[in-house]
Amino acid sequence: LIASHDPLFQEQAMVEEVRKVGQDMFLLNLKVSEIALTAKPGQFLELQVSSINSLDPLLRRPISIYSIDQTKGIIGIVYREVGRGTKLLSQYQNGDIIDVIGPIGNGFTIPDDAKKILLVAGGIGMPPLHSVAQYYKDREFILYYGTRSKDEVILEDEWKLMGVETKVATDDGSLGFHGRVTDLLKAELPEADLCCACGPRPMLIALKDYLKVHDIPGLISLEEKMACGVGACLGCVCKTHQGYRRVCVDGPVFAVEEVILDE
Ligand SMILES: Cc1cc2nc3c(=O)[nH]c(=O)nc-3n(C[C@H](O)[C@H](O)[C@H](O)COP(=O)(O)OP(=O)(O)OC[C@H]3O[C@@H](n4cnc5c(N)ncnc54)[C@H](O)[C@@H]3O)c2cc1C
Ligand code: FES
Repeated sequence: LIASHDPLFQEQAMVEEVRKVGQDMFLLNLKVSEIALTAKPGQFLELQVSSINSLDPLLRRPISIYSIDQTKGIIGIVYREVGRGTKLLSQYQNGDIIDVIGPIGNGFTIPDDAKKILLVAGGIGMPPLHSVAQYYKDREFILYYGTRSKDEVILEDEWKLMGVETKVATDDGSLGFHGRVTDLLKAELPEADLCCACGPRPMLIALKDYLKVHDIPGLISLEEKMACGVGACLGCVCKTHQGYRRVCVDGPVFAVEEVILDE
């Protein structure tokens, strides 16, 4: 189901666009001609966020691919500023250069017979799912998008442009359904051949139960802290029924029943 170990490229990416898309959230379009040619939805980039001629911070930061434009050689990423690395990333402007490695990981591979795809996003887990809907144009998608409050619901228009229906759930009830995104699923029971999801661990645990009860196969994208980001350090392992697997190169996408989420 899942392809991995495609060639990796290191590129000096030119920043083509910086857009603030929400509180502490940004979209960056990066000119990465080689990476854009082979990138698949659900893969990610490792960005060297330090300024030119500096290696501080040393570790690259992993950010998912939000959009792929092969013709223009542009990959979009969307991120939330949470610490030093992402704060540095926010200082880049149009025309600046960022050292980028990618595309990394296996990504979402959707079987041909899966026509109706349920996307379930929690907060900043939304970006990799956007690349899925953009890439698999011949499928029917519906997005269930859960956040803490309405301020964290971003880029809704871009989903509308792709013709994808979006159902929003907020923890505080400030937009859409009042409650967890998995409770909205339980209330609406959308039909699906496959679910693709990315979000915080509690959401994935609840979703795993939901998918099991309703007999829907699922692919989930995991986040772990990463050091090397290319499979060498074993710093990012997750527990599966086949033993420990590296999230960076064996994932980040796993079949939901394969992963042990609640230990
Ligand atoms: C495969 C993958 C894809 C990702 N895609 C995106 C994305 O599309 N958009 C986005 O905003 N973020 C994404 N992340 C998370 C992003 O990598 C971290 O937010 C970022 O590395 C934090 O760096 P920092 O220096 O700003 O924060 P730090 O100062 O390192 O940490 C700040 C806070 O963020 C937490 N944190 C740090 N690294 C991670 C991590 N890898 N996963 C979860 N929490 C972390 C820390 O525990 C701490 O609470 C992804 C992570 C992975 C592993
Ligand atoms: S981050 Fe080093 S093996 Fe995954």
